[in-house]
Formats: sequence, structure tokens, C-alpha cells
Amino acid sequence: MTENTIHMVKINRIINECKDVKTFMFHNSKKTKPKPGQFVMVWVPGVDEIPMSISAYDDANNWAITIKKVGDCTEALHNLKINDFLGVRGPLGNSFNKPVNKNMNIFLIGGGIGMAPLRFLAYDLNISGYEFTIIQGAKVESNLIFMDELYEHDHKNSEFHVCTDDGSYGEQGVTTDIFEKLIKDYTSEQLRNTVVYSCGPETMLFKLFQICRKHNIEFYASLERIMRCGCGICGLCALDPLGLLVCKDGPVFDSKQLNKIEDFGKFKRDFTGKKIFI
Ligand SMILES: Cc1cc2nc3c(=O)[nH]c(=O)nc-3n(C[C@H](O)[C@H](O)[C@H](O)COP(=O)(O)OP(=O)(O)OC[C@H]3O[C@@H](n4cnc5c(N)ncnc54)[C@H](O)[C@@H]3O)c2cc1C
Ligand code: FES
Repeated sequence: MTENTIHMVKINRIINECKDVKTFMFHNSKKTKPKPGQFVMVWVPGVDEIPMSISAYDDANNWAITIKKVGDCTEALHNLKINDFLGVRGPLGNSFNKPVNKNMNIFLIGGGIGMAPLRFLAYDLNISGYEFTIIQGAKVESNLIFMDELYEHDHKNSEFHVCTDDGSYGEQGVTTDIFEKLIKDYTSEQLRNTVVYSCGPETMLFKLFQICRKHNIEFYASLERIMRCGCGICGLCALDPLGLLVCKDGPVFDSKQLNKIEDFGKFKRDFTGKKIFI
């Protein structure tokens, strides 16, 4: 059985994270251990098959996906109950490379539902004894997710900053403002010893990329594109001009690659493959 075979799994837990976002957990009999940054294609029979980041994994082989309701398939998923089945194909794609050493200044920066893969990364880093800083941004307080576990319980070694566009929780502003403030007094040596892992709206990722490029900071971004096959066949998730595929070469890209991807921060493709502005 390959990564590309659909597995039917039974939902064993559902968590309401906030308005319009739910986490679904299921036991996966598959032997492959997923890595932070990887995703699965989630199939709802009769509706669609869509990509979802893996937001948690434990040694008992329980997997989690965290889903924001935005359209037909995500709505169908939100209507599922405990003991219902869904199809999953994966883990697919690449993953976030762990920092080369534990003394690095490590930042996990997520906007909105982009916190999903970063939550898995945070767990993984925590278990491996890394210290890191999380910056979570959302439009309003009611859109913040994973607050209790990231902030209060599980990550004693990490620093946590929150911002909202309207100031209803944490600092008023955006994640890039907080990040710039935190690195303001870094020496060039400290900047060279810094790494950023990010996921969220592409405008945020592009701004982060520019800041990191300016300061020589190692940078990784997980990108989203509309996907059909999820495994390098249809070409719908291709990034111009190199033709890198988000499903196969990504979803995580480093600064060197992003530097050459002209679509990054500017264009994506719609369901017909036509390029549209982000
Ligand atoms: C690698 C990857 C990981 C993802 N991880 C998550 C996750 O952890 N949680 C989560 O809630 N969402 C995630 N997404 C986005 C998710 O796949 C889309 O929101 C979903 O496909 C929408 O399906 P729908 O049928 O509900 O909506 P549709 O009716 O198909 O579309 C509703 C809106 O969502 C946009 N959309 C559709 N498909 C995608 C897509 N693949 N990427 C971005 N926008 C899309 C459409 O342009 C439209 O504006 C991820 C996408 C990718 C590529
Ligand atoms: S989704 Fe088909 S090639 Fe990436």
C-alpha cells in the first residue's frame, strides 16, 4: 500500500477550536509516521477530496487535521460526527526541516488556520527539547485557535505572542510587526542564528520572506494552492516559472526557492488552472 492509497478512517474525537474551525482526530492503522508540514488529501464520498495539513500526531498513531469551514467539502467535514468515516491519502509532500542546532533563535509564525501545521511542528520541537517563540495572528479574538494548549499547558519552554487586527486579544497589529520588534536588537551573529517557520495568508508569508531576506535569516514557508491529485500529476498547483509543484516539491519552500518563484505573493491558479491575483 503506497502513500497514495485512500484509507478509510473513523473519527474518534472532535474539538471545536473556534467559530468555523474544528479539529478531527482519527486512528490511522498505516505504519508511516507523518512529519510536521506534511498534508493528507481528505476524501468525503460524493463531495470532494481536498488537502489538509496534519495538525497533530501521537505515538499511538492518532492523527489530527484542523479544518476551517470555507466551502462545500469543508462544510461536509464539519457535519461529520464521532464514529463517522472519512478517506485520507498520505502523508504527502515534504516537511519542515528541524533547526540544525538547539541554540538557534527559532520562530514559528502563523496566521489564522496557518497555525495547523505549526502546531504539529511545535509539539515535535518540544518533544525534542528545543526552545522556540510562537507568534500567532488572527483577524479577531474569536478566530484564535489552540490557545490553551500552546499558551498554558504544553509548551513551557516556549515564548508565545498573540496579535489581532482589531486588538480584541493580545497586541493590536500583525505578526510581522511583532517579529520585527523581537529581532530589532539582534546582532548580525544572532540574525544568522535565527530560523523562521511560517504558514498563513500569502501576503503575510511574502512580508516575512522580505524581512528575513533583508536580515539574512533562514526562512521556510508552507504554501497553499488549489490541488486536484495531490501527487504531481495534474499540474494545478504548479508555481511559475520553475514549475515547482506545491503538492510534491512543497508545501514547504525555503528562501532560496521562494526567491526564484515569481508567483509567490502574487499569483495562484483557480480550479480551471487560470492564473489569478492573490
Ligand atoms: C497543503 C495544503 C494544506 C492545507 N491545510 C489546511 C488546513 O490545515 N486547514 C484548513 O482549513 N485548510 C487547509 N488548506 C486549505 C483547504 O484545502 C481549502 O480550504 C479547501 O480545499 C476548501 O475546500 P471547500 O470545498 O470547502 O471549498 P471550495 O468551495 O472548494 O472553495 C472555497 C474557497 O477556498 C478556496 N480554496 C479551495 N481549495 C483551496 C486550496 N487547496 N488552498 C487554498 N484555498 C483553497 C477557494 O478558492 C475558495 O475561495 C490547505 C491547503 C493546502 C494546499
Ligand atoms: S495537485 Fe496535481 S500536481 Fe499538485
